Amino acid sequence: MKNTVLTFQQAKKEGTRLSMLTAYDYSTAKLVDAAGINSILVGDSLGNTILGYEDTLSVTMEDMIHHTAAVARGAKNALVIGDMPFMSYQASVYDAVVNAGRLMKEGRANAVKLEGGASVCEQIKAIVGASIPVCAHIGLTPQSINAFGGFKVQGKGEKQAQQLLDDARRVQEAGAFAVVLEGIPALLAQKITDTLDIPTIGIGAGAGCDGQVLVYQDMLGMFTDFKPKFVKHFANVGEIMTEAFKTFDQEVKEGVFPAQEHTYKIDEDIIGRLY
Ligand code: KIV
Ligand code: NA
Repeated sequence: MKNTVLTFQQAKKEGTRLSMLTAYDYSTAKLVDAAGINSILVGDSLGNTILGYEDTLSVTMEDMIHHTAAVARGAKNALVIGDMPFMSYQASVYDAVVNAGRLMKEGRANAVKLEGGASVCEQIKAIVGASIPVCAHIGLTPQSINAFGGFKVQGKGEKQAQQLLDDARRVQEAGAFAVVLEGIPALLAQKITDTLDIPTIGIGAGAGCDGQVLVYQDMLGMFTDFKPKFVKHFANVGEIMTEAFKTFDQEVKEGVFPAQEHTYKIDEDIIGRLY
């Protein structure tokens, strides 16, 4: 059955947990969808995992639309969330609505996600006002890396923790249907989760959240540039891929691949008559 914002509401009410993974292309989206994952996030983390940038700041609306559309074609039941890239919503409410609309219309997302708390509530309200569901995202928000001075766990001190709890309340009030909590202490994520009526989706935020999200290359052990503490390798797909690539290399060079069964036939007489 298709997951919708109602699925998220229902899960919060019933206390059942929600699963979310990233995907950036059609084939991966199909695999994630077939596994029964509730939601696929087309994250701007594609800047790191797909495009090889050091952070997410260079990711464009064109990048996000391109990949969101591919994922949407592969996702049958998962709720597809398109990430709003850096500077597609910060400068004005107008930008936010227009760009959220593009992710829905051209990318065929079911919802959008943007980073920030109180500072983006006008944007959240306006996007929701255009009938576009919004997932908020607070804590260690990667688009703010320069303001944070690095990838640092957020909300450790009392003032910061209170601010994050306030931000969580504000994005809920603004109309967000869910909120991602990234890189914050588990007890704070638990407190936020207990306080809110909308589901919290954690990444590096402990088990007390209503759901969990991971970048798929991280959880498959395919992305080894760095491994944050919150990442668990559910398989070592990177190793399996490298092994397969090596075997291909070897079989090509030894003339083992392709074998008879991989080749197309033609009547030998025809070849004999060729001059
Ligand atoms: O871009 C992304 O993948 C994200 C998740 C890590 C929450 O925003
Ligand atoms: Na993101």
